Amino acid sequence: MSVEFGMFAEREIVLGLWSVGGDWGPCDAEEAHALVVGAPGLGVRWVDTAPIYGRGAADRLLARALRELGADAPRVATKVGPRFEGDHPVCDLSPEHVRRDLEASLRRLGVEAVGLVQAHWPCERGTPLRETAEALQALVDEGKAEAWGLCNHGSASLRYGPASMQLPYSMMRRDIEHDGRLRACRHHGVPVLAYETLARGLLGGAYRTLPRLAPTDHRRRDPRFWGARFFHVAQRVALLRQASERWGVPVAALASGWVLARPGVRGVLVGARRLEQLRESVQARRVAGEPPWLATLDRIAASFGASAQASR
Ligand SMILES: NC(=O)c1ccc[n+]([C@@H]2O[C@H](COP(=O)([O-])OP(=O)(O)OC[C@H]3O[C@@H](n4cnc5c(N)ncnc54)[C@H](OP(=O)(O)O)[C@@H]3O)[C@@H](O)[C@H]2O)c1
Repeated sequence: MSVEFGMFAEREIVLGLWSVGGDWGPCDAEEAHALVVGAPGLGVRWVDTAPIYGRGAADRLLARALRELGADAPRVATKVGPRFEGDHPVCDLSPEHVRRDLEASLRRLGVEAVGLVQAHWPCERGTPLRETAEALQALVDEGKAEAWGLCNHGSASLRYGPASMQLPYSMMRRDIEHDGRLRACRHHGVPVLAYETLARGLLGGAYRTLPRLAPTDHRRRDPRFWGARFFHVAQRVALLRQASERWGVPVAALASGWVLARPGVRGVLVGARRLEQLRESVQARRVAGEPPWLATLDRIAASFGASAQASR
């Protein structure tokens, strides 16, 4: 049974839709549909999307699943801000764009309101965060979202009272432990929703050799998937694989479970391409409740070292 802490459970598993949204190479539409429709049956109560995931493709996939699931549908977290200028998304958090973006998402999703609307990353158009926060609160007051949150913002943003903060956090990417953001979120009581806990699949255990990624898969531009960096990570993933075999728990659940157990983390966003992957990842909840396993995972996480961290 999950313990309720406001809008999120104590150890919330959120299904992220970026990897089925179209930016990760070809995706089987029916498999992706089965993933979203099957998520509530695995205890997943939230789905995370964004207008830029496949330029609306993730939203359209979700809209179909929401219609089919009806009252059993998970709650929706979406984002506002980025809009494409040519091929490049630029984050515009002006009150006008925030409103336009959310209202367009509601139309695409076919719903009157979402559970959470989040500013996707800091504004690149000079709007002070106070104005964005007021605009987001106005949308909440109008009933278009139950709450508003932030993603990828610094500690100073917490004074505006977001309901949540999405930040990247994994065994191999731990900068929020060192730059003060994790501590600040705990101090302000703002739940952290950690994303990229599987390092875009590298910590899922599937890749023993350099993956052959499709030309349209954005991970081709991620240096963690290249040569020496990949093999450095692969050696540590081999340790996870040994632990996985010993305890009978999937590698992906160990990687996400370690993050889920970190103080200040309320939930993890996990990407998946198939329901079977999500079935493995939800076992992170069990991992997060096993202190002896976590002690071993701490040692494995420490072995990644600083060189594995940055994605750029
Ligand atoms: N706010 C933000 O700025 C932001 C940024 C990034 C992500 N997010 C959110 O966080 C979510 C998760 O992050 P992410 O999708 O970037 O990365 P992730 O969760 O670290 O990795 C997802 C990928 O891992 C692989 N995988 C999943 N389950 C697996 C399993 N059981 N075994 C082996 N491999 C498995 C799959 O890729 P393959 O099968 O292709 O290897 C999947 O697409 C996103 O969907 C999005 O909702 C938010």
